[in-house]
Amino acid sequence: MSRLVRGVVARGKGAPVSVETIVVPDPGPGEARVKVQACGVCHTDLHYREGGINDEFPFLLGHEAAGVVESVGEGVSGLAPGDYVVLAWRAPCGECRSCLRGRPWYCFDSRNAVQPMTLEDGTPLSPALGIGAFAEMTLVAAGQCVKIDPAARPEAAGLIGCGVMAGFGAAANTGNVQRGDSVAVIGCGGVGNAAIAAAHLAGARKVIAVDIDDRKLEWAKGFGATDTVNAGSTDPVEAIKALTEGNGADLVVEAVGRPETYEQAFYARDLAGTVVLVGVPTPDLKIELPLIEVFGRGGSLKSSWYGDCLPTRDFPMLIDLYLRGRLPLDKFVSETIKLDEVEAAFTKMHHGEVLRSVVVL
Ligand code: APR
Ligand code: ZN
Ligand code: ZN
Repeated sequence: MSRLVRGVVARGKGAPVSVETIVVPDPGPGEARVKVQACGVCHTDLHYREGGINDEFPFLLGHEAAGVVESVGEGVSGLAPGDYVVLAWRAPCGECRSCLRGRPWYCFDSRNAVQPMTLEDGTPLSPALGIGAFAEMTLVAAGQCVKIDPAARPEAAGLIGCGVMAGFGAAANTGNVQRGDSVAVIGCGGVGNAAIAAAHLAGARKVIAVDIDDRKLEWAKGFGATDTVNAGSTDPVEAIKALTEGNGADLVVEAVGRPETYEQAFYARDLAGTVVLVGVPTPDLKIELPLIEVFGRGGSLKSSWYGDCLPTRDFPMLIDLYLRGRLPLDKFVSETIKLDEVEAAFTKMHHGEVLRSVVVL
């Protein structure tokens, strides 16, 4: 039987979101219906609402979620009602060229639910990042459900599903951070602070946090930053060099998505250092890099997509680190809110007042 539940819907470009009754069908073949317990408010939800991703309104927002499997469809194995899961936006197919070449994060055919969730009048909803979890229940592909240790509280666990994985993976997977590295992270929101935590855990010698907001820099210390730089008052490239004996950092993670911060990241790298772009640029942004600087200083410029993660490998690992006190996920949770407070949470996010607001159901 279809379920009628409450969910947060964005009906049109720029319009405030509203809590509406949505219809969640019974899971079909390969699908699972999940009772959502907590879901973080991420920038991408706001981008959907602003029409910055596509115009397939109405959207069912929310995509950083933990919950419990309520029922599964035909042919689903290895997942059963009662399983505690974090939802992934990509369930790699395992068969396409990217998957076969060991880069499943670029899967061409990642799996999502086939049946649509709808408004009560039958209008199909587009679920944010194939999830749609600002709702009491959601429908996903079974492969999007990653089982985790039930000891992890949902408010913290759900964050693994997007922002924390993106930042942690940018440093750990894409940047391959090593013990003894000096690391600089530009932009210390949820994503940047997760990169800081990864660098700290890997045994980086210096973890330099760069932001324009002193509150963010203060929070960054709680994730393992050894030094902080306010880029509003100090040239961050000079500051990073000064903190690394004039050399620059072995790894620079850019977690803002602006041309000026990407340029700073480029110039702040050491000889043969690595620069990872994880901040999402808008399609029109460009930078100019002198080739001689690339040629003469070597290194690599990379981008990181969903932290280049394999959810079934990385989610349980991050949860283990959390449960053993080594990854302070709770510090990302600035406040817990109800479904009807998502719009207010967007405003707080916009003003930099929170790392994450988390909807608890
Ligand atoms: N220099 C340094 N830091 C900056 C600058 C700048 N010029 N401009 C903004 N920032 C800081 C903000 O103060 C904020 O702390 O960058 C941080 C960005 O963090 P959030 O806005 O909280 O965003 P977050 O969720 O961490 O995502 C960062 O990654 O996934 C993408 O779309 C996301 O592009 C965004 C980025
Ligand atoms: Zn694939
Ligand atoms: Zn997100």
